Amino acid sequence: MICVANQKGGVGKTTTCVNVATVLSLAGHRVAVVDLDPQGNASTGLGIDHRSLDCSVYDLLAGEASLAEVAVTTPAGLDCLPATPDLSGAEVELVDTPAREFKLAEALGEASPYDVVLVDCPPSLGLLTINALVAATDLLIPVQCEYYALEAVARLLDNADRARRSLNPTLRVAGFVLTMFDRRTRLAVQVADEVRRHFGDLVFDAVVPRSVRLSEAPSFGQPAVTLDPTARGSVAYRAVAAELAARFGLSEVPAQERDREQYRRASIAVGTQVAGRGYGVIAPEPEGIDDAWPRDAGSAPGRDRAMTGQPRTASPATGTTT
Ligand SMILES: Nc1ncnc2c1ncn2[C@@H]1O[C@H](COP(=O)(O)OP(=O)(O)O)[C@@H](O)[C@H]1O
Ligand SMILES: [Mg+2]
Repeated sequence: MICVANQKGGVGKTTTCVNVATVLSLAGHRVAVVDLDPQGNASTGLGIDHRSLDCSVYDLLAGEASLAEVAVTTPAGLDCLPATPDLSGAEVELVDTPAREFKLAEALGEASPYDVVLVDCPPSLGLLTINALVAATDLLIPVQCEYYALEAVARLLDNADRARRSLNPTLRVAGFVLTMFDRRTRLAVQVADEVRRHFGDLVFDAVVPRSVRLSEAPSFGQPAVTLDPTARGSVAYRAVAAELAARFGLSEVPAQERDREQYRRASIAVGTQVAGRGYGVIAPEPEGIDDAWPRDAGSAPGRDRAMTGQPRTASPATGTTT
């Protein structure tokens, strides 16, 4: 079970969760996404309308519904344990509950029918995130290539340490995924370099570029990897999923979109009303994106600087500042 966390909001936790989960599912793994954010973005991003739900992760944490009752199967074949706004109440209600940090671990239990469970955490270090840190075997940290990225990560790692010391001694850091990278900006290049210097080969080689398709996919109620498998963000998330699978010893996940038909089948036709959504419009990717993210995935940013685990000297920032 992988907890996708970073208490900073808008760094790409949810986007990473839904896209990586979908790729792993389409590669034949049994996958679930646990939406632990009361905003429910992972649920809506996977096409689930919370108004149509009888129960949610809230009921699971409260011990009032079973895993099977809460799980909803999405078109890409993965299950989502959806969140509804009442989950925000759980954060408060849990405070006075015995074993309040273990609710998610208890609910998911050992009899989980899944090969991989990805938990999408809220942007805070409250009890919901702590439940995820306690239930998970691994922590996956999306890092937005922006100022203060490392400060947020330091605090998160501190909390992971605390969870490890007292509640979940075997919690590991599965890795860091650099998100919203735009190599035309000096800042993004510097932040990416700094993260790699600090965390060595824990940082995924694959870097997720800023991609319009990633940001508009939620309005279609589906992940970018099925909405537009050829978009740069989709290519990047397939590479992230492939690396994750390799790190976890899961059977190989093709980084290339080998079976186009499989992605097409999992896609919901554009314009279809899904969960009250389907209002999105597909715009072309913006000009200049080819510089920021060449079509040839082999030249993905960072690939040439494959990590050796050795501290590296800062490479001179290239490109222009925007
Ligand atoms: N690589 C990316 N390029 C462009 N937009 C992105 C990218 N990743 C995420 N977004 C958009 O940025 C916003 C925040 O991302 P999200 O995954 O919801 O972050 P978090 O879950 O950490 O709050 C969302 O609107 C999302 O669609
Ligand atoms: Mg989110």
